[in-house]
Amino acid sequence: MSKPRVFVTRIMPAAGLDRVREACNAEIWSGEMPPPYETLREKVRGVDGLLCMLTDRIDGQLMDAAGPGLKVISQMAVGYDNIDVPAAQVRGIPIGHTPGVLTEATADLAFGLLLAAARRIVEGANYIQDGQWRTWDPNALLGRDLSGATLGIIGLGRIGRAVARRAAGFNMRILAYSPSLTFESAAEVNAVAVDLETLLRESDFVSLHLPLNARTRHLINRVTLSQMKANAILVNTARGGIIDHAALVEALRSGIIGGAALDVTDPEPISPDDPLLSLPNALVVPHIGSASQWTRDQMARMAAENLIAGVTGQPLPNRVPTG
Ligand code: GLV
Ligand code: GLV
Repeated sequence: MSKPRVFVTRIMPAAGLDRVREACNAEIWSGEMPPPYETLREKVRGVDGLLCMLTDRIDGQLMDAAGPGLKVISQMAVGYDNIDVPAAQVRGIPIGHTPGVLTEATADLAFGLLLAAARRIVEGANYIQDGQWRTWDPNALLGRDLSGATLGIIGLGRIGRAVARRAAGFNMRILAYSPSLTFESAAEVNAVAVDLETLLRESDFVSLHLPLNARTRHLINRVTLSQMKANAILVNTARGGIIDHAALVEALRSGIIGGAALDVTDPEPISPDDPLLSLPNALVVPHIGSASQWTRDQMARMAAENLIAGVTGQPLPNRVPTG
């Protein structure tokens, strides 16, 4: 029997790629940059399976370009806002993703950003680089304490809960908001479930852990930013589109909030002359939430397993829920 034909949109860790190569007749895009949309449309023609990244736009037209033989779309990420889920659903194509394995790595990065912003770690490193360190200064680079401060977690799913566990260890008070969060389930991670406005008004730090969709796009906007404390620090390791970036720049400039630490931006990559990058109270890193060796190996393995299950007619081990 001939092996199923698949297209993989990037060279991913061997932990997954080797399995794909073994089980499938695979074409693997070897560019450092993602395949352009038009190229991808040509590459997927006639394939049984597609293994993609969050940098690929996967819409109905692309699914139609692949043709009726397309049995699975397997994304090497937990988030899948780049994929038109309803379009896949009407075509009967299951979508795979990689939940769970990147929870701790992403929570680590969220906490790292929180600490870096609170204690001005990157500013401190730049201070030395700029030749400004002349003596121990009782007043230089004073930041904020985590202990006793309030952390507001928006989206208390797997990653939000992992952040809450870290915050408890730092002796923070934890508030949480998720659309269907119960008091009991928040209490399991020492968080108090509150409404969004209470969270924004009372938190010294706010961390976002929601998927990007029509309900969450620009959840953080001019109005919600104005509800935050004037010295609050906003952390985003979820998706850039949850924040209205123009409103954020304005809020950081005019002191409506104190600072922001972002692993994700809108668009990505952020332009080198984006105003955010010149603000002293904004720290931006390049979407590295899941970027640890172990985590990326697991993501690649899971994406391979979902792909192989799909092309061989098995249920996907990790399928995106459809409404
Ligand atoms: C990364 O952002 C992911 O969704 O896995
Ligand atoms: C993602 O894995 C989440 O549920 O937070």
